Amino acid sequence: MAKYDFDTVIDRRGTGAMKYDALNELFGRNDITPMWIADMEFAAAPEITEAIMRRFAHPVYGYAYTPDSYWDSVRSWLMRRHGFSVEKEELAFVPGIVRAIAYAVNFFTAPGDKIVIQPPVYHPFRMVAEGNGRVVVENPLIPSPQGDTYIMDLPGLERVFAQERPKLMILCNPHNPAGIQWSRETLAAVGSLARKYGVIVVSDEIHGDLMLYGRRHVPFLDAGEDAAAVGIAFGAPSKTFNIPGLVSSWAVVRNPQIREPFYKWLEVNEFSAPNFTATTATEAAYNHGEEWLDSLIPYLEENIEAVERFFQQKCPRIKVMRPQASFLVWLDCRGLGMSQDELVSFFVNDARLALNSGTMFGSQGEGFMRLNIAQPRASLLEVLESIALASVEVNA
Ligand SMILES: Cc1ncc(COP(=O)(O)O)c(C=O)c1O
Repeated sequence: MAKYDFDTVIDRRGTGAMKYDALNELFGRNDITPMWIADMEFAAAPEITEAIMRRFAHPVYGYAYTPDSYWDSVRSWLMRRHGFSVEKEELAFVPGIVRAIAYAVNFFTAPGDKIVIQPPVYHPFRMVAEGNGRVVVENPLIPSPQGDTYIMDLPGLERVFAQERPKLMILCNPHNPAGIQWSRETLAAVGSLARKYGVIVVSDEIHGDLMLYGRRHVPFLDAGEDAAAVGIAFGAPSKTFNIPGLVSSWAVVRNPQIREPFYKWLEVNEFSAPNFTATTATEAAYNHGEEWLDSLIPYLEENIEAVERFFQQKCPRIKVMRPQASFLVWLDCRGLGMSQDELVSFFVNDARLALNSGTMFGSQGEGFMRLNIAQPRASLLEVLESIALASVEVNA
């Protein structure tokens, strides 16, 4: 028997899980299977649960101090998994990636300043920028000629930098929703352009540990001198180990001119002060979770292949964009010939599934839906059957 179990269905309703308990509020009904927000239906590695339980068994929950062993675990993980060498002073704790992006937006830009995003992209990038009174400028990704991935528009990026004079760019590396890995060359080119035009690049690397099919993550700060000079990277064990509810993330900044004032501001505001659950879980994950992760990745790959086979055989009008990283699958549903509202209603009311609508990620997501495949394979296959059934009924 495999050491780690990804096949058992775990009932999460009533546990304060956003994915389940917010269904009615967000999708208008409860009798649907959630395949939307990006957490997984798997139990965390037992090594993490044991470490947290051990800490909670001690009955004094006083103020936390971050031990050196926490910083060592992050540094050692980045070196082992990504060949990314980071000094302790280059690291800071941050309580969640979206919050960290919001800190950077607030610290490095002022209301009215321009911020570049590359849609279709993780929707909080726009929400954080606009919610803080900044102006979003888009450099949309270009669909590849084969329609199997997206390409970054580097000439477009230079035009946007030159014409709009943004202060900051928010990069998604790897890129959610389509799970794209950016090559070292592409990242280096972004770094060079950003340095030329004086733009700070915030690189969200939350999906970086979940590279698929033998790929290796390229940290933005490791993609050449220019990237290192302009970059602020945020990463976390949260997606990797399915512990986003514990709210533990980190920042890496190489350039002291960016790092020192930013980290000081985080510190005086106590934005970078962790609680002990976060540091305990992170240490356990990075020091003892590697085997769990190495078992998870092939499971995710096989789920993706099962999804591909399913749509090819049973619902060929929906095309699967194979992700290069993570557990989110970008479905091209344009072949169904529905408007976006019809598409959302088809999934919610006919197939009884809650997926993310493609247009959440920008107007470029029209005709697309994002499917979370991180769940036990048997229940995933069952869910897919309900799409096939609904599409037959809709076309009958
Ligand atoms: C690209 C990306 N960044 C950030 C997050 C959320 O991070 P956090 O929960 O740490 O704010 C997600 C979650 O789906 C994500 O996909």
